[in-house]
Amino acid sequence: MPKPFPSVWKGFLPQRAIIMSRQPINNFLGCDSLEKIASDLYGCQRCKLCCTRNSIVIGDGHPQSSIVFIGEGPGEQEDLQGKPFVGKAGQLLDRMMAAIQLDRTQVYIANVVKCRPPGNRNPEPDEIQACSQFLNRQIDLIQPKVIVALGKFAAQTLLKTDERISNLRGKFYPYRSSKLMPTFHPAYLLRNPASKREAWSDLQQVAQELGIEIPKRSIS
Ligand code: URA
Repeated sequence: MPKPFPSVWKGFLPQRAIIMSRQPINNFLGCDSLEKIASDLYGCQRCKLCCTRNSIVIGDGHPQSSIVFIGEGPGEQEDLQGKPFVGKAGQLLDRMMAAIQLDRTQVYIANVVKCRPPGNRNPEPDEIQACSQFLNRQIDLIQPKVIVALGKFAAQTLLKTDERISNLRGKFYPYRSSKLMPTFHPAYLLRNPASKREAWSDLQQVAQELGIEIPKRSIS
C-alpha cells in the first residue's frame, strides 16, 4: 500500500502539485519501485556469488508487462553483458516469445538469482534465500497476469516442490497475485528439441490466458 501523503506537506505544495505528483512523491518517500530494487542491489554482498560475478543481472523489459519470464540465474554471457537471457538459450527464448506474438519490449525477464553461480552450477539455498526478496518485489510491482517459470529449477523453487518439471508443466498454479505456468527451460529445449512440442502447448495456454491470438505454428 502506498504511504499516505503526509498532511504536513500540504501547506508547502500547490494543490495541483499534490494531485499531479502523487506517484513520484510517494517514490521519493521510500515506496518500492524497480529503480529502488536496482539501487538496493547496487554492490550487493548478501551472498557468496558476489565474489565471482561480473554483473548483477537485475532483470529487463516492460515494467508493467502482463507476463514475466523467470529463469534460473545468469550464465556466462548474461554475467558479462548484465542482461538476462542474451546467450544461446536467450535466442531460443526470443523465438518462444515470438511464437506467441511477443517480443522483449512487451515482457519482463528475470531470474531466481541475480548473480551467476560459478561454472553455471545450480544456485544454493542460501543464495536463493538472499535473493528471494528481490524477485518477490519485482513480481509484486509488475503484478503480471502470467508468470512463466523456465525450467525445473525456477519451477521447483517458486512452487517449493521437488516434483519433476515434466509433471509440473502444462498447468497454471496460483503464485502471489499471478498464474504461474512452468515449462521447459530453453537451454533444455536446445538439447532436447523433441520437447518443443510440449513447450509450444504450454505457451498456447499462456497466450490464451493473455487473450493473444496466435497463428497455428510452433516454436522454430
Ligand atoms: N539461463 C537462465 O536461467 N537465465 C539466464 O538469464 C540465462 C540463461
